[in-house]
Amino acid sequence: MAVRVGVLGATGAVGQRLIQLLEPHPEFEIAALTASESSAGKTYRQAAKWRVDSPIPDDVAEMTVSATDPDEVPDDVDLLFSSLPSSVGEQVEPAFCEAGYVMSSNSSNARMADDVPLVIPEVNAEHIDLLEVQRDERGWDGAMVKNPNCSTITFVPTLAALEQFGLEEVHVATLQAVSGAGYDGVSSMEIIDNAIPYIGSEEEKLETESRKLLGEFDGAELSHNSVEVAASCNRIPTIDGHLENVWVETEDDLTPEDAADAMRAYPSLELRSSPDQLIHVFDEPDRPQPRMDRTLGDGMAIAAGGLRESTFDLQYNCLAHNTIRGAAGASVLNGELLLDQGYI
Ligand SMILES: NC(=O)c1ccc[n+]([C@@H]2O[C@H](COP(=O)([O-])OP(=O)(O)OC[C@H]3O[C@@H](n4cnc5c(N)ncnc54)[C@H](OP(=O)(O)O)[C@@H]3O)[C@@H](O)[C@H]2O)c1
Repeated sequence: MAVRVGVLGATGAVGQRLIQLLEPHPEFEIAALTASESSAGKTYRQAAKWRVDSPIPDDVAEMTVSATDPDEVPDDVDLLFSSLPSSVGEQVEPAFCEAGYVMSSNSSNARMADDVPLVIPEVNAEHIDLLEVQRDERGWDGAMVKNPNCSTITFVPTLAALEQFGLEEVHVATLQAVSGAGYDGVSSMEIIDNAIPYIGSEEEKLETESRKLLGEFDGAELSHNSVEVAASCNRIPTIDGHLENVWVETEDDLTPEDAADAMRAYPSLELRSSPDQLIHVFDEPDRPQPRMDRTLGDGMAIAAGGLRESTFDLQYNCLAHNTIRGAAGASVLNGELLLDQGYI
């Protein structure tokens, strides 16, 4: 029987991607949609300015959007996907979990909380069991798992593949697409013919979330990885796909060939939305590129290339689709993990 799911913040950039991914999903059935008070009471077609690259699904289009309140969501919804602005998520997500809903959230609030699992299933699926600690501490029947920031998701799987060489220091510079700021995030007058070397709070997210993701969970507590990460974030005028330049220092010797082999061999998972090959490594020096490579593995794969030795042990570029692998797809994958691990 299909799992009944709801989408909080269903009308936004990530919410629309969630609808696109969930509507054909064989295990999940969309049963509730919420947004702000100004969208509540409208049909989804009226409330959402649909801008995804496939038609709005007819059955979802005719559903009524409700306010983002636990009393407005049917009790028989088994799983919620949240793509609310973090300021809103901070206010309402705990109320949903307290009311018994299990939630896979994309919003940045609470990502760094000690009892909230921050998960990329192919990297740290075992952290999901932090939910036992969360339920004990908070007295919730529900539960909350988070996926990381879209730029963090792009480079952390490559670091996970290199962890066997002993990660010491990582520098990362991002070139991030405009969809990462949400539909009303960056105006065309700001970004056309331009690049903006500042994205509020983004650098700190890459620096801290990466260490949590690569940390160890001993069944009671999570310790963060000690690797030093320094990030610099830039917004550029691409629509989708975050490109990142990464420099890595390792304890052990590491050649570009060893790194490419480790990335290619890094395993994916059997979850429905996991790509067959998680990390694609290009030999061509000018790849990956956002327009050409963001849809690899239906937008769920990571692309890497340009591996070479520099003043650091290793330098390379990586890329992921920010609203699919970096946001909606990441939440769906965590939903599949929750189902697989018996939390739903
Ligand atoms: N875009 C990305 O690539 C990306 C990647 C990773 C993480 N994220 C995170 O995902 C979240 C959503 O981002 P987005 O880009 O989809 O934003 P967005 O396009 O601005 O959409 C925001 C959604 O939240 C709803 N909302 C706004 N204020 C609300 C309120 N007071 N109460 C209830 N609902 C409210 C909006 O509904 P209305 O239509 O009714 O206003 C809309 O459905 C953010 O936390 C963001 O940081 C985004």
